[in-house]
Amino acid sequence: MKKLSTLLVSILASITLSSTAFAAGGGGVTLDEPYINMSDKASLQNGAKLFVNYCLSCHNAEYARYNRVAEDLEIPLYQLKQNLMFTTDKEGDLMKTTMPAEDAKDWFGVTPPDLTLVSRVRKPNWVYTYLRAFYRDDSSPSGWDNSLFEKVAMPHAMYELQGVQSLVERLPIDASGKIIDKDKVELDENHTLVGNAIFELSHPGEMTPAEFDKAMADLTGFLVYLAEPAIMKRKTIGVYSIAFLLILMGLCYLLKKEYWRDLH
Ligand code: HEC
Repeated sequence: MKKLSTLLVSILASITLSSTAFAAGGGGVTLDEPYINMSDKASLQNGAKLFVNYCLSCHNAEYARYNRVAEDLEIPLYQLKQNLMFTTDKEGDLMKTTMPAEDAKDWFGVTPPDLTLVSRVRKPNWVYTYLRAFYRDDSSPSGWDNSLFEKVAMPHAMYELQGVQSLVERLPIDASGKIIDKDKVELDENHTLVGNAIFELSHPGEMTPAEFDKAMADLTGFLVYLAEPAIMKRKTIGVYSIAFLLILMGLCYLLKKEYWRDLH
């Protein structure tokens, strides 16, 4: 019996320890946190627009249908057809790329993964940091690299928006991913900090760094929605359930009073 309890304690301890290490980023990456608001429909619509324009050419979102997305994000049908549907003309179709997986593998050496669940597998902070961390690297086959995902096979899909940046340096971080001496870091308008990497903007894009960050937060928000479409309804259902329970409680109280009046 004693042995069993020691075993249980050690299993529990190892589970807790490993999950803390995981929560801390597994020892050594710095991630930025986007501002995401699931009830901000304009932000999610913008994310959807960026997604179909810049990502769907290579990636699938095979578990999502256009019309479900339009309904959840309150996008009118005509706008959906005009601005979002490039890979098909049927609203009920899945969000699939037109690029054959075989060709993609030949071109990039790896098939671009489906993005429906990426924000759950990788977590939103990772996705948000990754999308802003591409930099020019002439030694890589695509001409791009990523400070969060070294030797990444994905080229920078949104360099027109962000501009072209080059890696200046990686700042030292502690085991939990925090930048050591962060207050001493000084940045001017040509330099940005993404995760723990400092970049220099060598060619400006259509957006300022702040606008690009906002756009990437919108896109990350859309990917969070895509991984769990019920998230939009879940909160409303929660509010209705609580309201229902409160009303029921009121009625029960009145009923109780009614019964007890006869008994007194
Ligand atoms: C030109 C093709 C192409 C485009 C366009 C593209 N990607 Fe990728 N993406 C890839 C490839 C290839 C990989 C695999 C990278 C690897 O494993 O080295 C990838 C990997 C990723 C990953 C990492 C997945 C993981 O868990 O490893 C994310 C996240 C991602 N892409 C998001 C996006 C988003 C969001 C867009 C739109 C802004 C986009 N991609 C546009 C080709 C593309």
